Amino acid sequence: MDKFVITGGRALSGEVVISGAKNAALPIILCTMLTKDSIVLKNLPELRDTATCFKLLEILGKKYQKLNDNEYLIEGEVTSKVAPYDLVKTMRASIMALGPLTAFLGEAEVSLPGGCAIGARPVDLHVKGLIEMGAKMHLEEGYIRAQAVGGRLHGARIVMDKVSVTGTENLMMAASLADGVTIIENAAREPEIVDLADCLRMMGAKIRGDGTATIEIEGVKELHGGEHTIVADRIEAGTYLVAGMATHGFVTLHNTLPSSLEAVLAKLRQANALIEINGTDITLDMRGRDIMPVDIVTAPHPGFPTDMQAQFMVLNAIAQGSSSVTETIFENRFMHVPELIRMGARLKIEGNTVMIQGVPNLKGAQVMATDLRASASLVIAGLVAEGQTIVDRIYHMDRGYEHIERKIRGLGGTIERVSA
Ligand code: EPZ
Repeated sequence: MDKFVITGGRALSGEVVISGAKNAALPIILCTMLTKDSIVLKNLPELRDTATCFKLLEILGKKYQKLNDNEYLIEGEVTSKVAPYDLVKTMRASIMALGPLTAFLGEAEVSLPGGCAIGARPVDLHVKGLIEMGAKMHLEEGYIRAQAVGGRLHGARIVMDKVSVTGTENLMMAASLADGVTIIENAAREPEIVDLADCLRMMGAKIRGDGTATIEIEGVKELHGGEHTIVADRIEAGTYLVAGMATHGFVTLHNTLPSSLEAVLAKLRQANALIEINGTDITLDMRGRDIMPVDIVTAPHPGFPTDMQAQFMVLNAIAQGSSSVTETIFENRFMHVPELIRMGARLKIEGNTVMIQGVPNLKGAQVMATDLRASASLVIAGLVAEGQTIVDRIYHMDRGYEHIERKIRGLGGTIERVSA
């Protein structure tokens, strides 16, 4: 397994170009199953997870080819209804094949994704919504089998018991081809939902209210092809801003969507960062400035994103004072805590909150990544710490951060990938 060898203690400085959003790319790649026309996707990040998504598309009968860097052509028609366990177990977002397959083919067999490191990750809300849209759902041998009664789903008013990002996306895709109008109440409001809705509208879907808690979709007979550019990755942007800040650096990010990062930018400013926004550029200046502690409570968008919790914990770990980080979305998203403690952080887990006492600096150590965003926090800690840090199992990070070493080196960071 690959490792990162990082030598810390240097301020990051310079420019970095932010890639397309992983969590927009995954549903958008899968939504192409809703048409047999060709679709060109641009600004698509080249990641383990997007590669897995294309593999799933191929298994289901679609064809794809790379036109240029970050530009893909998808064509053909889905012919198979089965999303197999061997592939789904490597990427739980595969559950988002359920909605498009059931809507386009009238049936689907998608392996239950199973849990992952950060929690049980149930999909009951995805299933419940499809039942309300007229699908017969059975769970057999670890597969969810869906059958649209009469071959076509119908509109419904669905109230989500919990705010679910991929749950909202699955149902929005299914509703695009259903017979009649679907209303999704208590919908997720993430910018990636809006980007998926923009892509579906480009394909001829009738959707409004995306980005708010109530989304209305009027089903159409069929959807057509076209071209869509994936929105900027707000979590990648937030990650590089935290890395610049934690190392007291001076960084400029290009190709961002600042409006998707308001909660993160507010917390960075509260922690004493100087931040300037200029169109799609964000500049952070932390030279000669102290990091002030800030309390964090994660929440669905537009609240503070759970995907930025681990990264921000590193900032608080070296801030001038004490703070707390509370995780309200997932039940087990503190696996970076023991690893940061091994680097000298003073952290104490109390239920779903971590109490933090800032220390002057961290010390390099051998640490292990456990999930995508925990690996990002360990890389940031390595860039901050005195001495050398070795981060093991960085395949987690390859899932969601495009050209990591190149981007960190471009900011003056010292990082090497070694194959164990
Ligand atoms: C999406 O996961 C993201 N993944 C996650 O990003 C992100 O952390 C999460 O949303 C929350 O923002 C993608 O978009 C591919 P949820 P998702 O459904 O949709 C419970 C990353 O690092 N729930 O919004 O799976 C669930 O257990 C990843 O890029 C149910 O109970 O998350 C959780 O407690 C990690 N039943 C809460 O809702 C359901 O049917 C929110 O989960 C669905 C969810």
